[in-house]
Amino acid sequence: MGPPDPILGVTEAYKRDTNSKKMNLGVGFFLTACYFLFSFFLSSWWTEVQMGPPDPILGVTEAYKRDTNSKKMNLGVGAYRDDNGKPYVLGCVRKAEALIASKMLDKEYLPIGGLGDFNKACAELALGPDCEVLKSKRSITVQTISGTGSLRIGANFLSRFHTVARDVYLPKPSWGNHTPIFRDAGMQLKAYRYYDPATCGFDFTGALDDISKIPEHSVIMLHACAHNPTGVDPRPEQWKELSAVIKKRKLLVFFDMAYQGFASGDIDRDAWAVRYFIEQGHNVLLSQSFAKNMGLYGERVGGFTVVCADAEEAKRVESQLKILIRPIYSNPPMNGARIASTILSTPDLRSTWLEEVKGMADRIIEMREMLVTNLKKEGSTHNWQHVIDQIGMFCFTGLKPEQVERLTKEFSVYMTKDGRISVAGVTSGNVGYLAHAIHQVTK
Ligand SMILES: Cc1ncc(COP(=O)(O)O)c(C=O)c1O
Repeated sequence: MGPPDPILGVTEAYKRDTNSKKMNLGVGFFLTACYFLFSFFLSSWWTEVQMGPPDPILGVTEAYKRDTNSKKMNLGVGAYRDDNGKPYVLGCVRKAEALIASKMLDKEYLPIGGLGDFNKACAELALGPDCEVLKSKRSITVQTISGTGSLRIGANFLSRFHTVARDVYLPKPSWGNHTPIFRDAGMQLKAYRYYDPATCGFDFTGALDDISKIPEHSVIMLHACAHNPTGVDPRPEQWKELSAVIKKRKLLVFFDMAYQGFASGDIDRDAWAVRYFIEQGHNVLLSQSFAKNMGLYGERVGGFTVVCADAEEAKRVESQLKILIRPIYSNPPMNGARIASTILSTPDLRSTWLEEVKGMADRIIEMREMLVTNLKKEGSTHNWQHVIDQIGMFCFTGLKPEQVERLTKEFSVYMTKDGRISVAGVTSGNVGYLAHAIHQVTK
């Protein structure tokens, strides 16, 4: 026998009572409760919330999924695919996972700043093992939730401590998430010229001109390599001039390095700009991601580094980074960091990784060349050299929005409206079809 209903029980007792002054307040409570429940379900806390626009890239994927054309291509997503168009888990990652599993490690919380071994290996990978900054311990690296989390921790840090200037200058265009990351952290967004639509290349003169006018102490965001979305990177001699102007303007440099190794296939070559700027005395902020170069997208593993004036300053900055991180996610997840640090610190896994990252970069470079060869075969007389000259996962094709629309409608080729394609989605099996489709809408 279960317990009687508390309100009906009150009513039953009330009914049995013979006192002429009896009062049943239980039902009243019941009716009041009904009223509140009723009004709660009639209205809501969130009636004022407006429907937001869909994410432009995820929107492309949704439309692609609905398409029934067997030749359809999704060139919107920024994730590597092998030559069969399939997601790729690196061999070194599988081996590292097996090694970690065999150790039967515990699952205790990591420290707020993450896995120490990972942080060390992460900083060394970016700065180079012989870097003076590391030797003199004047930098601090914390493990972050991939590149996005790193940028957001950096943005929050700037918002709290870089009070001398609030402006962050982004290249025009920049990765779509840069703006909301910095804006939501309370910084103000500005831009400097970067991409030249006339050449589909770097607007070096425009960039230098704009940067030379940026107010002192502002923050400047630089993509270390494989600029997203344009695939356009400065050449070393151009980086040198940029460094000089930025130094003259006393700007604080924030490098976003989401593609180390993925651009040229060589981790040192891709980190060249970061290392050069540090050598030139820029005490940079640096965001790193292992999503692309280790294919650890969903593991969310990255790092945030602050290069400081000396070891004492680095300690103070570290303490404040911990204070920032603690109320956001307390401490980062361990699995991806264990995988990345195992790969970086185990010699045979590291050399397998270097081969595999080169393999991914080379496949992308090959697809760029094949696309141009096939466009020529189709009879296209346009100059497509920029497709080969650009680097990394993305290619800014120069296609106009109406041409992109035709590609999608008539050929089921999906990409963002700005004409950006993820070359990682091109394979030796579909590059001919893509060239044919592009030629049809551009001839
Ligand atoms: C320029 C740039 N920065 C940062 C990221 C961050 O990626 P994740 O958070 O997956 O590491 C990306 C990913 O596309 C990117 O292109």
